[in-house]
Amino acid sequence: MNHNPFTLAGKTIFITGASSGIGRAIAVEASRMGATLLISGRNSERLGETFSLLRGDGHEQHIADLNDEQQTTEMITRLPSLDGVVHAAGIITSLPFQFITREKLEEIFSVNFISPTLLSKELVKQKKLNKNASFVWISSISGFLCGSPGHSLYSSTKAAVNGMVKGMAIDLARKGIRVNSINPGQIATPLFDEGVISSEQMQQEMQKYPLKRFGKPEEVAYAAIYLLSDASAWTTGSHLVLDGGFTLL
Ligand SMILES: NC(=O)c1ccc[n+]([C@@H]2O[C@H](COP(=O)([O-])OP(=O)(O)OC[C@H]3O[C@@H](n4cnc5c(N)ncnc54)[C@H](OP(=O)(O)O)[C@@H]3O)[C@@H](O)[C@H]2O)c1
Repeated sequence: MNHNPFTLAGKTIFITGASSGIGRAIAVEASRMGATLLISGRNSERLGETFSLLRGDGHEQHIADLNDEQQTTEMITRLPSLDGVVHAAGIITSLPFQFITREKLEEIFSVNFISPTLLSKELVKQKKLNKNASFVWISSISGFLCGSPGHSLYSSTKAAVNGMVKGMAIDLARKGIRVNSINPGQIATPLFDEGVISSEQMQQEMQKYPLKRFGKPEEVAYAAIYLLSDASAWTTGSHLVLDGGFTLL
C-alpha cells in the first residue's frame, strides 16, 4: 500500500466559497485526495459546475448566502459530522480610506469575518466536528504582512481573521480541533475580474513577485490539503504564507 500522510480518505470536509476560484480548487483537489465534500456557495450554476468536477461519490452541495442567517442556520442543520471546514468565501472592495462608510465596513466584515466566525461557533456548539477536526481560513498576506492602496477595508478583515485563528486555536485545542490560516499573495481567480485593478496594473504587480507570476488556485488547494490532513496534526494557530516571495522584498 502507498504511504501517503496527506490523504483525505475517510474525511468529510465542508467548504464555503466553493462556487469559484480558491474554494472550487480546494474542493476539486480535496476530492482527488479521497475526501467527501459538502460544498457551499450562493450561485447555484457555478456551484453545480464545481460539483460536476468532484471526484468520487457521496458529495453534497448546499446553496446559502452567508449573510442570510436563516439560510446559514438551515444549512448547518443539514450538515453531517465534519473532519474539516474551509472558509474560502470572501469579497474584496477597493476604496480609498477617506471614502469608507459604516455600510461598506459592515458589508465586507460580514462576509469575510463575522459570518464565518458565527458559522464556526455554531458548528462547534452543535457538536458537528469530529475529534481532530481542522479549520482552514483563507486569509491574505495583506492581513498582516503588507498593504496596498485602497485595500484598508479588505486588509483589516483579514487581520481580524488571523486574530480569530489564534484565539480559536487556543480555545478549541482541548477538543483536539486545529485552526490555521493560509495567507496567499495574488492568486489568479475571478476575485480580481471586476475591475478592482486594470490589466496594466496586473502586469506591473506580477513583476513585484520574485517568482514573476501570481499563484494558481491549485497551489492554495495543496496547502489546504496539508492543513486538512493528519500530516499537520501538530500544526495549530499558524498562518501559512503562500506568496511567490512577494513579502520578502
Ligand atoms: N484571489 C486572490 O488573489 C486572493 C488572495 C488572497 C486571499 N484571497 C481570499 O481567498 C478567498 C476566495 O477568493 P477567490 O479569489 O477564490 O474569490 P472568488 O473567485 O471571487 O470566489 C469568492 C467565493 O465567495 C463566495 N461568496 C462571496 N460572498 C458570499 C456570501 N455572501 N455568501 C456565500 N458565499 C459568498 C462566492 O460565492 P458565489 O460565486 O456563489 O457568489 C465565491 O464562491 C477570499 O476570502 C479571498 O479574500 C484571495
